[in-house]
Amino acid sequence: MYNVNYLEIMNSNKVQIFDTTLRDGEQVPGCKLNTKHKLVIADRLDALGVDIIEAGFPVSSPGDFTSVSEIAKLIKNATVCGLTRAVKKDIEVAAAALKHAIKPRIHTGIGTSDSHIIHKFNTTKEKVIERAIEAVSYAKNFVDDVEFYAEDAGRTSNEYLARVCEEVIKAGATVLNIPDTTGYCLPEEYGAKINYLKANVKGIDNVIISCHCHNDLGLATANSIAGAINGARQIECTINGIGERAGNTALEEVVMILKQHPYLNLQTDIDTKLLYDTSLMVRDNMGMPVQPNKAIVGANAFAHSSGIHQDGVIKNRETYEIINPADVGVTESAIVLTARSGRAALAYRAKKIGYELTKIQLDTAYQTFLKFADRQKEVIDEDLHLIMKKVNKISKIAIA
Ligand code: KIV
Ligand code: ZN
Repeated sequence: MYNVNYLEIMNSNKVQIFDTTLRDGEQVPGCKLNTKHKLVIADRLDALGVDIIEAGFPVSSPGDFTSVSEIAKLIKNATVCGLTRAVKKDIEVAAAALKHAIKPRIHTGIGTSDSHIIHKFNTTKEKVIERAIEAVSYAKNFVDDVEFYAEDAGRTSNEYLARVCEEVIKAGATVLNIPDTTGYCLPEEYGAKINYLKANVKGIDNVIISCHCHNDLGLATANSIAGAINGARQIECTINGIGERAGNTALEEVVMILKQHPYLNLQTDIDTKLLYDTSLMVRDNMGMPVQPNKAIVGANAFAHSSGIHQDGVIKNRETYEIINPADVGVTESAIVLTARSGRAALAYRAKKIGYELTKIQLDTAYQTFLKFADRQKEVIDEDLHLIMKKVNKISKIAIA
């Protein structure tokens, strides 16, 4: 049995990263992964430095059971977690799947909003509390580390949520997950919810509060950061922000926000240099493209195409970039040549492929460049060689 000091984590500045790419992320339509793919991703997540890997929902299918079980055997550093409903059978199956994990965690819970209590369960608030207590107590028979989720906490009244939290802490929960399941909350509201729980739940200082935010209004990352600022010490997220509907909080975003804002005094153990490569491997294994303008890992995240920006970046990268691309494993910023590019960008790119232009040669090259650029979306290296050939006929270009 390993020992975790929850009080120490809650009072520290470390934010634990709980990766749910293989569970909530995999719930994306068309994203079914087989065990082999899941093992490759889990291994990478462990190398990336995530604290917890939610490996799946073991009772959901024999395939998911096998995946969780194999991941539990493989992973040496991270805690391996399995999801359950507040149902005994789910908990038993999750415990069996996690049997070989060095650090096993059962993640159990139930809906707590009026909408879930009335429409999903057709029951009462008191009965939901009873089921929550039963689930946590039952899970404690199998593992020490039990995380409780209050599904749809984002739309649950703070008073009732506080009661649920207090009861599950008494039952032995070690982590309290406060999901904004429908991505409804505003950052201030979500932050205030965490703050309310910290102020009003007996025993809360002995457990870790976790943020689990969905992106229906594009606020998942902002809400998770608001939660951490207000005292949460775990953020649940996925690589590339994949997940149900509009997705989950993107791991790379929260990690880089905390790194780029050191005055928040919140840190993670993520090896940020592996972020870009991990994004590509999840994209390829899941067959889920990443939008080009995606923060941190999108193809355009470090690409500059307008003349004003390019001129600035060539003079000093920090004029238009707040992140050093090398910090996330991107080799360098890209200067993309389009009809909006200026002479500085053209000279820069020409030099990169071996041409040192004089001012007069650059003027001549730029006129030809504009004709290319007006015809096509982007002027690439092959085009540049053609442009330089034309200039060379008028005056010999030096080799850079
Ligand atoms: O979004 C959610 O509420 C969840 C829970 C099952 C943790 O994914
Ligand atoms: Zn979720």
